[in-house]
Amino acid sequence: MIIYRKADEITQYISNKKKNNISIGFVPTMGALHQGHISLISKSKADNLLTVCSIFINPTQFNNPDDFKKYPITIESDIEMLVAAGCDVLFLPQREEVYPTGFIKTHYELGKLENILEGRFRQGHFQGVCLVVERLLNIIPCDILYLGQKDYQQCMIIEKMTQLRNINCSIKISPTIREKDGLAMSSRNSRLSHSERTAATIIYQALKYIKSNLKNKSIEDIKKTAYQMLEQCEFEVDYIEITDQHLGFVEHQDSNKTLVGLIAATINNIRLIDNLILTDFDE
Ligand code: PAF
Repeated sequence: MIIYRKADEITQYISNKKKNNISIGFVPTMGALHQGHISLISKSKADNLLTVCSIFINPTQFNNPDDFKKYPITIESDIEMLVAAGCDVLFLPQREEVYPTGFIKTHYELGKLENILEGRFRQGHFQGVCLVVERLLNIIPCDILYLGQKDYQQCMIIEKMTQLRNINCSIKISPTIREKDGLAMSSRNSRLSHSERTAATIIYQALKYIKSNLKNKSIEDIKKTAYQMLEQCEFEVDYIEITDQHLGFVEHQDSNKTLVGLIAATINNIRLIDNLILTDFDE
């Protein structure tokens, strides 16, 4: 695997590959890699001749400075995992490469998507995500961008940003990879103590509860029970919502729509999110 640390060098490399019609898949990450990221690398390898991963803990998307400081850094094992997965190129920049002196922050008109769910609890977060992803796509102009469904709203926001900016790459969203007990893989899971890790399975259980009761109970009652399930496990709940696939809130059953259940909850200052498609039958 080739490692680039300089933006202009990787851009030059990618542009040479593009001239030779080599299709490029790109997996942006903040490191602390797990099987969820590796599944995206595998998807990209199956679809493209060249797979590029980036590791950059983007300061502009952290609304909570403590979360930024505590974000896990495991660069050596990340590199080992990428090599084992057959990733071709890693972009591993310092902050100045991504945000050089004089870099001008732009504002994205993301509409209502920006202020609901995660946006309500993480002011400015999605502006920071758009800023870094637009910049990364500028440095690494790929054919296909790979994102994980675990960050469902982030996927919608990045799709919107690429439309707003006329960025010519397609986006593929892959299903969430889970631990055996259902906990969605996340870099933040490594911060959980043994007992918090055990408690954290309640998030997936609550999503499954929502899914299996959607037909026979009111949405209000289902959400109430799901809240109680999380609170009994010492979680502080930011939200439990049921939406359509475009993140429009749904208050009543509607059998014609694809529905998604989304949860964000915190235990001991560690904030976890998860979601589940409620209207398919294979999970
Ligand atoms: O999902 C993430 O890890 C980050 O938000 C991303 C897309 C790499 C941007 O920093």
